[in-house]
Amino acid sequence: MANILCIGAGYVGGPTMAVIAQKCPEHRVVVVDISAARIAAWQSDQLPIYEPGLKEVVLSCRDRNLFFSTEVDRHIAEADIIFVSVNTPTKSFGQGAGKAADLQYWEKTARQILQNSRTPKIVVEKSTLPVRTAEALERILHSNSRGLQFDVVSNPEFLAEGTAIRDLEDPDRVLLGARDTPSGQRALQALVDIYAHWVPRDRIITTNLWSSELSKLVANAFLAQRISSINSISALCEKTEGDIQEIARAIGRDSRIGPRFLNASVGFGGSCFKKDILNLVYLCEHYGLPEVAHYWEQAVKMNEYQQARFVSNILFSMFNTVAGKRVALFGAAFKANTSDTRESPALNVCRALLEENAEVVMTDPHALENTRSDLGADARRVVFEADPYIAAAGAHALAILTEWTLYSELDYEIIYESMVKPGFIFDGRNILDHRRLFQIGFNVYPIGKPPLIHF
Ligand code: NAD
Ligand code: UGA
Repeated sequence: MANILCIGAGYVGGPTMAVIAQKCPEHRVVVVDISAARIAAWQSDQLPIYEPGLKEVVLSCRDRNLFFSTEVDRHIAEADIIFVSVNTPTKSFGQGAGKAADLQYWEKTARQILQNSRTPKIVVEKSTLPVRTAEALERILHSNSRGLQFDVVSNPEFLAEGTAIRDLEDPDRVLLGARDTPSGQRALQALVDIYAHWVPRDRIITTNLWSSELSKLVANAFLAQRISSINSISALCEKTEGDIQEIARAIGRDSRIGPRFLNASVGFGGSCFKKDILNLVYLCEHYGLPEVAHYWEQAVKMNEYQQARFVSNILFSMFNTVAGKRVALFGAAFKANTSDTRESPALNVCRALLEENAEVVMTDPHALENTRSDLGADARRVVFEADPYIAAAGAHALAILTEWTLYSELDYEIIYESMVKPGFIFDGRNILDHRRLFQIGFNVYPIGKPPLIHF
């Protein structure tokens, strides 16, 4: 039996540890956090995050071998293996502001581990970190005078929100990196043994520490770049009557390109893509590689352009003014099946429309609470409405910003009847039946396809 601890009970720490606890009933898994509210939510029926299948997994092992607690120090002392899954946001101050990772929570955790340890420990980097962070971590941990052994293993997480449980239960791969020393390799093997409870051995990849740390940033950069690539072509389609979905289908059939992650959209959101690319850009600059930095930065710039372009399209097609017009935004989460609104394009579109003095109404099945808190002072100028039919009533325009299935299943005839005419619909996710909407009477503006306009 091992005592496994995870520091950080967020979108990664909670689901990851719940799955480990479920798959490894002989181990004791504790998840700690400094946020008492978050821990209380994990202990309740109302989990702090919405994730399909999560509740079932948590309920299957909570209080059996899965525990949530705020007693960080005590559980550090008891643990054999400590996963660190605290947040690593973009630095907002000092050197590297706006690009580099802010490692203050990370370093605090390292020092706290050192302070409270009386036995050797394996410390696992679960958070996404700049390459070579493990070196700093080792230096902090080995600054102890007690002769304690700490082994650092890098184990980045590749789950996507909305499919976290599926991704954890059936991952494409698990990545583990460690030092090529006898104790480093023993630590690595301890982690392999945990994952081997349910992950086929050939999907557990082991590398050196730096490859593992860097692979995580590179995976996110490649994924985000793919979305920026298809979005850049969507702009060209709108000028040339190409159809981005037809193009995605045509190029995706090339087995070297593949069909996934080719959905043109209002842009990518989420807490990680932008942060991780900017971190990569910062690292390249730091290591004297400005051309490489510039290359990757374009993926973020293209994403900003795509969101700005979406707002400009709304403005220009609605006769260059939305001032005083009700605009209903369908979807606030950064993608479907999550309540997470971090870096959601919906929030950027909302803020841009507020600047144009539009009356913005936001609807979402799970994310309105997070939206309200993320918008801060701007929230006072927004109407939040859970029912999409009520949100649309009296609106001049609708914009689809999250690909919730529910939005493709609404009765758009009823919605059209309740709106101000001419009625506009901007499908930022290309999930609606555009021809049908046009027949109903809407002026339809998809992404990367010719608009359908009534004259
Ligand atoms: P999160 O903000 O949801 O959770 C982090 C938690 O850590 C918070 O609850 C915070 O209170 C807690 N915390 C911070 N400092 C602490 C301390 N000293 N002691 C105890 N708890 C502390 O973040 P997240 O989305 O779970 O992301 C965590 C890491 O995983 C990040 O590095 C992120 O890049 C990476 N990641 C995230 C995802 C994702 O889908 N969200 C996927 C893969 C990797
Ligand atoms: C992403 C990665 O997919 C995960 O592997 C990674 O672990 C995670 O980041 C992380 O490090 O945090 P996530 O951000 O949860 O996961 O969700 P994605 O499915 O990647 O979607 C990201 C954004 O891209 C969403 O806004 C989504 O709507 C958008 N997207 C995705 C598109 O616009 N088009 C697509 O074809 C795919």
